[in-house]
Amino acid sequence: MSNKSKLLAGVMLAAFGFSAPALAQVKEVQMLHWWTSGGEAAALNVLKGDLAKQGYAWKDVPVAGGGGDAAMTALKAMVAAGNNPTASQMLGYTVLDYAAAGKMGDLTETAKKEGWDKSVPLALQKFAVYNGKWVAAPVNVHSVNWLWINKAVLEKIGGKVPTNFDELIALLAKAKAAGVVGLAQGGQPWQEATMFDSVVLSTGGADFYKKAFNDLDPAALKSDTMKKAFDNLAKLRDYTDPNYAGRDWNLATAMVIKGDALVQVMGDWAKGEFVAAKKVAGTDFLCPRFPGTQGSVVYNSDMFGMFAVPADRKDAQIALATATLSKSFQSAFNVVKGSVPARTDVPDTDFDACGKAGMKDLAEANAKGTLFGSLAQGYGAPPAVANAYKDVVTKFFHGEIKTSESAVAELSKAIDGAK
Ligand code: BGC
Repeated sequence: MSNKSKLLAGVMLAAFGFSAPALAQVKEVQMLHWWTSGGEAAALNVLKGDLAKQGYAWKDVPVAGGGGDAAMTALKAMVAAGNNPTASQMLGYTVLDYAAAGKMGDLTETAKKEGWDKSVPLALQKFAVYNGKWVAAPVNVHSVNWLWINKAVLEKIGGKVPTNFDELIALLAKAKAAGVVGLAQGGQPWQEATMFDSVVLSTGGADFYKKAFNDLDPAALKSDTMKKAFDNLAKLRDYTDPNYAGRDWNLATAMVIKGDALVQVMGDWAKGEFVAAKKVAGTDFLCPRFPGTQGSVVYNSDMFGMFAVPADRKDAQIALATATLSKSFQSAFNVVKGSVPARTDVPDTDFDACGKAGMKDLAEANAKGTLFGSLAQGYGAPPAVANAYKDVVTKFFHGEIKTSESAVAELSKAIDGAK
């Protein structure tokens, strides 16, 4: 602008009280995610509704596949082609990888205005803040160390809720003897690894889980305790049905919902399926912690990674981030999703018995240092390590790696190579 036109602009501003028109904003949120099951879609609708009320259109980029492996491949391609979405569902270390590559936007101003540093637990801020800048909005906290039990089936076989691993195996054997599928299993690498997170915690205890799966301590990874964890995983395999290979997680949940199986070991997104099927916690289904893991929480958190976007898409991104971390959304969404809020100041009033237990467990584990990042779910170690882990666990579960000894050797070799 020449000096003369600057002067003119100044005069116009003084005379008429307006400045140059603001950049026209695109009122659309483009979101990549893997929330394609019934419960997940219902939860996402809460967000779509909130944004629609503010006049934002929703451009959906769904990539089916629980655990998000396929979604992350799609995201990589989009970002490489320069098509950054407004936001993407992401897990822990993946957010940090994209931030380190300079692909994320900066939501710090919004975070300051909304006081996120006071309301979001530090365990989540470690993954949502990079180099002092907020690059993601945490949506929830999920945890993986749960059992989802069909109560009527439990009563029919005369079983009781197991409190340790041996009791779990005895219960599954009882189901099998009664002609009921004990374990509803989805035979995909991420599901087997997600279950193994719980098995390792139950077998080795809290310190062992942390050493092996958060600190990647070579001695812990190679230990006899890890071998025992694989032995325990093999025991669980005896109680699946023959058709588990390749099964989606929500179809395994449906087996429990319908009473075709007794129990599923899965993150609390499974509860979203029970809720979508109008089943009631405590009445139709039970949600004890995976036996032997009581007192610890192995968590993951869905984050909306906020990408660097053109200036005319920034308002939509800010609206999305603000809506995501609002207290009312955190309650309404997580009640449907099966997870618990990503803020510490949301009342548990609207949550069912499992949600209330989840919130209490999380606060207690956080206070006493027994809250651990899930290795299967992107919060234990960077993606390369997590992928190496999933690979070994699935090969063992499907019999390609035959013994626990070789599984331990393969696991420590794979993790060492991926670090
Ligand atoms: C996500 C959940 C999702 C689950 C199954 C997990 O990685 O954190 O939000 O429901 O995958 O798709």
